[in-house]
Formats: sequence, C-alpha cells, structure tokens
Amino acid sequence: MDKPAISSSLERYQRLIELSCDLASQLNLNELLFRIVAAAADLCDAEQASILLYDALKGELHFEAATNMDNPLMRGFAVPVENSIAGWIVTNREPVIIEDAQHDPRLYNSVGKAVQLSTRSLLGAPLITKGKVIGVLEAINKRSGVFNHEDVDLLAALGGQAAVAIENSRLFLQSDLIAELVHELRTPMSALNTAVHLLNRPDSPSDQTARLLRMIGDETNRLSELATAFLDLSRLESGRVQFKSGSVDIRHLITSCIEVIASRAAERGIQIQTNISAELTTIQGDSDKLKQVLLNLLSNAIKYNKENGRVTIEVIPYDGDLVISISDTGAGLNAEALGHLFERFYRAPGTEKIAAGTGLGLVICKRIIDVHRGRIEVSSQVGVGTTFSVHLPLQKAIPLKGM
Ligand SMILES: Nc1ncnc2c1ncn2[C@@H]1O[C@H](COP(=O)(O)OP(=O)(O)O)[C@@H](O)[C@H]1O
Ligand SMILES: [Mg+2]
Repeated sequence: MDKPAISSSLERYQRLIELSCDLASQLNLNELLFRIVAAAADLCDAEQASILLYDALKGELHFEAATNMDNPLMRGFAVPVENSIAGWIVTNREPVIIEDAQHDPRLYNSVGKAVQLSTRSLLGAPLITKGKVIGVLEAINKRSGVFNHEDVDLLAALGGQAAVAIENSRLFLQSDLIAELVHELRTPMSALNTAVHLLNRPDSPSDQTARLLRMIGDETNRLSELATAFLDLSRLESGRVQFKSGSVDIRHLITSCIEVIASRAAERGIQIQTNISAELTTIQGDSDKLKQVLLNLLSNAIKYNKENGRVTIEVIPYDGDLVISISDTGAGLNAEALGHLFERFYRAPGTEKIAAGTGLGLVICKRIIDVHRGRIEVSSQVGVGTTFSVHLPLQKAIPLKGM
C-alpha cells in the first residue's frame, strides 16, 4: 500500500530540492530542458511532461522537450497563445489543473491531433523569472488519482527553479558564443584595417591597389558568411529554430543540391557522380534543413578537393537507416583534425590557404542531423580523400527530437 501521506509529502519536497540543485548546475540548454521534463513527470507522478517556451516576439509558444520522445511530438511545434491551455497559463501567469482535458475548451485541439497525445488530465505551471513568463511546464496524465494541490505547489516551485536555470544557460550560451565570435572577427578586421591603411598612402603602387581591393572584397565576403553562419548556429543552439517535418525524397534533394553547386565544381574541373542503390529514398524530416546539410558537405567536398578531382554521392540503406555518403579526392584529414572537426570555428591546419570558410558549417550540420535522430560519420585517408556519411532513420513517422 501507499506510504503514509506525511512521509510521502516530505519525501516529495526533498526530491524537489534535489532536482532543483541538479537543474541549477546544468548549463547545456538542451540537456537542461530534458532534465526539467523528467523532473516534472517524476515529481507529479505523471505519465508524461513537456515544456513549451514562449517567444514574445511572435506571441507563440513552442514545444521544446517532452519525456515521451517516442511519441511524434515535434520540437519547435508552435502553439498559439489563444485557445490553448499553455497560452492560458502564460496570459494568466498561474498554474492550472485540468481534470478532463478533452472537454476543456482551452485545449488546442490541433496540438492534440498533431502529436497524438491522449491527454486526459493536465497540470500546468508558468515558468517565470524576473517577472517575465518564459514558458510553461506541463505534467500530463496523473498515474493514479487526480492532480491535487500538492502537485500544483511542487510543479510551480519546480517551474520557478527551472525558469532561472533556463535563463542562466541561455546567458551562458550567448556569452560563450559571442566571445568566440569576437575572437574570430579579429583576423579579418585587422586585415581590413591594414589594407585601408596601405591604400591611403599616396605612394601606393597600382598593382598593390588591385591586390588590396581584392583582399578587401574577400574579407568582407568572409565576414558576411561568418555573420550568417553565426546567426544560424546561435539560433539552433538556443532552440529558436522551428523545424518542419514532412516527407523528403533524398534522391530529389540531391539533384537539387547538385544544381546549386554544379558551376563551382565545373570551375575546378571536378566531376560529380551519384550512385543511388537504395530503392526507398524517402525519409521524414525538414527538407530545407537537410538541404543545408548536404550543400555544406558537397561544397566542402569541392572546396577541399584537388583540381580535376571527383566527388561521389552514394545512397544506401543500412541497418534501418538511409546512409548518404559524400566522398572526395582531396588531401584528406589526419587523426588529430578528425578529432576536432565538429568544434565551432575549427579549421584543419593549412585549410586557410586552400579556401575561405568559417569553421561553422559542420557544427551546424551536426545539430540539424541530431534533431533528425541521425548521425554524421567521417573517415579519411591522408592524400586519398575524405568521406562524410549522414545516417538518417528510414522508419516512417519518426519525430524530430529536441537537440
Ligand atoms: N571534405 C573535406 N576535406 C578536407 N577537409 C575538410 C572537408 N570538409 C571539411 N574539412 C575541414 O573541416 C573544417 C570545417 O568545415 P566546415 O565546418 O564546413 O567549415 P568551412 O567549410 O567553413 O571551413 C574545414 O575548414 C576543413 O579544414
Ligand atoms: Mg563548409
């Protein structure tokens, strides 16, 4: 039988304290969000829990994490503030218990359908920090009995701790990223500064002028690429990107990527071959984001290839995944470089001289593939070439997950 109420109540408050300490020490936002939902389900004895973050600019809430990732609950799924329980909580800034969710007019029905959640009962609490509502924490379907006032108190208290932890991790993430960006900006800035200084000298020879102007052009291009990639990454890392899930035909996607990069390949005399042996090439995912991944891998395979080299794109089914491999005949990467490839701003030694870049492309690719529950593998042989393989699950209706 159940333990006496008092001791169980005491235990639950002790558990709240433990969980709160655990949250406070977690600076990785994605990991933090998953710990918060796990804690909410645990504390409130609920079947599931989820967290929605509020985007004040758009006036929308987005699902960010849920305990039941087997359920097709999609990260980034937008929920309007009107006609949703979460929206009601944001507007009223107070917790709510709903005993019969299916018959509550505030339930946003398309969410229910979209995520196939059979919500019977629901307990929700706002995430408030410094007087601002930043989201909503929901516990869904009490395992036995109904949500009671102790559950409300516990979830509200957890929500307060969670909100502070989320804000901390966002600030940490931003300061970290910005510090790295500023560091990266130093080199092009100082190159530009020197060029302008030299151009200003009255005795600047005309061949030097042409060279300096070209350099200024290259460096400003690089700065603008850096700005775009940086924004992409910081939005992905702070969970502010919405993924749209649909059927994506990889065969089709590859054709459209080749169209984009064909002229760049031709300029360097590089041949592109495709070898698609998979019969089924359709997966679930975000077509634009997957295109971004393939384009970066293909453009790397061209940039870092030798003149008149070859790029081979292969698509095979393997172990329940669709595997897209992109191989080149470039200089290859040694073990040391392979170990750092997916770090922000990393560029292998000597790369600077071969081609312009930001060192952010692969980090962005990995993030996007993670959301698709896939992975990227690399193998390389110095002097022979490099192969990047993207594994994406072939199963139908696999949900995108939180990163
Ligand atoms: N196909 C490849 N062959 C050799 N080196 C590569 C290849 N792809 C990526 N790299 C190395 O990994 C680094 C990071 O790649 P990426 O993140 O796409 O940045 P970028 O292309 O902007 O340099 C590159 O700068 C390069 O040193
Ligand atoms: Mg790149």
